[in-house]
Amino acid sequence: MKETIARYIEEIKAAHIENFKDRAAEVEQFRVRFLGRKGVMNELFEKFKALPNDQKKEMGIALNELKAAALAKVEEFKNFVEEKMDVDNTHDLTLPADFLQQGSRHVLSVTMNEIAEIFARIGFTVEESVEIEDDWHLFSALNFPPDHPARDMQDTFFVEKEEGKQEIALRTHTSSVQVRVMETHKPPIRIIAPGRVFRNEAISARAHCIFHQVEALYVDKKVTFADLKQTLLYFAKEMFGEQTQIRLRPSYFPFTEPSAEMDISCNICGGKGCNICKGTGWLEILGCGMVDPNVLEACGIDSKEYTGFALGMGVERMAMLKYQIRDLRLYFENDLRFLHQFDNII
Ligand code: DAH
Repeated sequence: MKETIARYIEEIKAAHIENFKDRAAEVEQFRVRFLGRKGVMNELFEKFKALPNDQKKEMGIALNELKAAALAKVEEFKNFVEEKMDVDNTHDLTLPADFLQQGSRHVLSVTMNEIAEIFARIGFTVEESVEIEDDWHLFSALNFPPDHPARDMQDTFFVEKEEGKQEIALRTHTSSVQVRVMETHKPPIRIIAPGRVFRNEAISARAHCIFHQVEALYVDKKVTFADLKQTLLYFAKEMFGEQTQIRLRPSYFPFTEPSAEMDISCNICGGKGCNICKGTGWLEILGCGMVDPNVLEACGIDSKEYTGFALGMGVERMAMLKYQIRDLRLYFENDLRFLHQFDNII
């Protein structure tokens, strides 16, 4: 019993309130442990009663010492807590602050902002619009023929698709914003439209049902393909570096005529050929072209007076090429190990 008492006294001496996390609660726990009804003191007093008389004197003194030590410590703790708690007695102002994990911008937002800034420097403003669109803005005004595959359930998420009614769908591209802007603004028009788009695709490393695009539109008198080409070259160099070269390949989109796809020289191998560019030295970047006169007319713009160019790019693809991201799914999983790799890009 003597050793037990000595051990408790050591324990009391060694107790430091600085080591307590929830101080008020832990002080109370400490008090109950030693001085509570079922606490250490009472337990020892019970044992004390059963001792032979010749041991009682020595143990009595030891027990009193232990009790005094416990009382003194509780008193000390209570004074400390009272002094350090704030006015309403709920917060201990001396506790170290909690560690707050700092967030950072998502790599897609960073990329989208960067694209917007590059275009802002040559006078393009940002337009945003609805994600649930009607058939007119999504397809018809953009010169899509009635049997185009994009109008098929297989490619598009329809919200409403009823015989004889205007179809409503989640937008499959940001080109719809072109129509909205041309219907409501007179040229000169110089806008980009960043935003989310939706397609009925199985999710894999290379495809996702939700992704992001940035559309650009420039309509004015005498806009030519040369303006488009110069804008593309400027954009490619700003986005991927001064050494970047571009090439245009003829292509087809219903809303542009002529249409092209732009490649940039591979920013990984510098054009020599590597596994990213599949040995070609070129990377496909975006679609573009001169706005089809049918589209201008559908939006109420006189196609004899005005011409324009448009282009559209995938943001995920831009970021993939710029930061060498291999799997589209990483963007949406919110795995901190992925997200924190972009803490230092702003
Ligand atoms: N809307 C097209 C797509 O989603 C991208 C595009 C191509 C936009 C050519 C354009 C363009 O403005 O001129 O694939």
